[in-house]
Amino acid sequence: MSSRIITVEPFDMVVFGATGDLSARKLIPALYRRDVAGQIPAEARIIGVSRRLPAEGSFEASVRTSLAQHVPDEELTDEHIARFLARLAFVTLDVTGEAGWGDLAALLAQHPARIRAFYLAVGPDLFGAICERIGRHGMVTPETRVVVEKPVGKDGASARAVNDAVGRVFSERQIFRIDHYLGKETVQNLMALRFANALFEPVWNAAHIDHVQITVAETLGVQGRAGYYDTSGALRDMVQNHMLQLLCLVAMEPPTSLDADAVRDEKLKVLKSLKPISIAGADHLTVRGQYRAGASAGGAVRGYLEELERDDSTTETFVAIKAEVENWRWAGVPFYLRTGKRLATRLSEIVVSFRPIPHSIFPGSAGAVHSNRLVMRLQPDEGVRLWLMIKDPGPGGMRLQHVPLDMTFADAFGVKAPDAYERLLMDVVRGTQTLFMRRDEVDAAWAWVDPILEAWKASSQAPKPYTAGTWGPSAAVGLIERDGRTWQDDGY
Ligand code: BG6
Repeated sequence: MSSRIITVEPFDMVVFGATGDLSARKLIPALYRRDVAGQIPAEARIIGVSRRLPAEGSFEASVRTSLAQHVPDEELTDEHIARFLARLAFVTLDVTGEAGWGDLAALLAQHPARIRAFYLAVGPDLFGAICERIGRHGMVTPETRVVVEKPVGKDGASARAVNDAVGRVFSERQIFRIDHYLGKETVQNLMALRFANALFEPVWNAAHIDHVQITVAETLGVQGRAGYYDTSGALRDMVQNHMLQLLCLVAMEPPTSLDADAVRDEKLKVLKSLKPISIAGADHLTVRGQYRAGASAGGAVRGYLEELERDDSTTETFVAIKAEVENWRWAGVPFYLRTGKRLATRLSEIVVSFRPIPHSIFPGSAGAVHSNRLVMRLQPDEGVRLWLMIKDPGPGGMRLQHVPLDMTFADAFGVKAPDAYERLLMDVVRGTQTLFMRRDEVDAAWAWVDPILEAWKASSQAPKPYTAGTWGPSAAVGLIERDGRTWQDDGY
């Protein structure tokens, strides 16, 4: 079997921050791959915008570099590269000044009816200025969309200011707030598993589920991003967006359809049902950590403060939280969230742990009866496994074994999962907002995160140190073990 490719309508995609890191690492490779797959029509253009020409001397040259660095050799052919490069245009433009905007408007005016997407791969402090100029120069047509990258703000108040600024020029229907975790294959599969099977939904509740764990572990440190990261930290960088979105998809009620608002209405209800964490509660419901020198990804690495070249930062590079969703379906079921940099391995997983059987009919000699577990692995090697008890095959009496039923179908379809950005960029062109965050979701996520930030600020304790290459501070182990449970460090 193979997957079907449906070519999208012709479009002009304008990338602000075209010479930046996100563009080089994610956007250009994603567009190239969709082009190779035949999903991008011949007329489509990619218009890079930046204050100055890239270091390579031309946009074309910097795109070549980005492809060489971020797309495997076997996916690069001269013919495909030439076709892709022919789509490129570049405009030198001052996003906070006036120079260059007329040139961009003129370029776009060549195809006034075409789908237009402005991708703001720049800091959120520039969103307002850029949108205002896009509006003032008459570039917003009915077929225009704007894509904004996280972070949308650094707390509820600043997020509202950013959203207001973008909202003065674009309607909510035109605003695509990207959370690339929603574009990951397994995250999509979670919706299919839950809502395309009759099997799971009846047991998807507090009566049958003991707890849920969501882990996003990275081996990387903050490297070149220390400046941004130190003003952010793991809670803002990963939890407010990616992890809460994953939690929403696990916890939400079945939407009436896959329509953007039907899905987002349900996610919003989950965010609003999150039990607030008070200043007093933050002490035992959250753990923050900061890595020290150690070994990670096969080599010795420096600690966070050394990477930062400062010794007074209290920014957290690790966070673990015990969250609860206060509604009928989930009352009393903890959702343990954990994410960090420089951890033992790169691993992102959602583990749904079912309750133990009520009574065992098996003799002690049969071995322990383990609870069922559904593990959705986002990376690496995305897939889904359901852990079941079976009888050990063959003679020897009744001996039980805990084995995974592999529910990964990628091999059967013979396709490699596309990168999240590939899917999301094509959704932008199609105008499909299901996998993008609506404004009220962003507000509700901040409403839960803000008190945690305040509690940490008020606390006299610094983040707990952990050695790079471990699973974070021991307090994170305590957070879950206090409840008689353990992290599934490799539950797959
Ligand atoms: C980004 C964060 O949103 O997600 C980064 O800003 C993080 O700090 C990245 O490294 C993780 O994404 P992925 O897809 O590599 O898990």
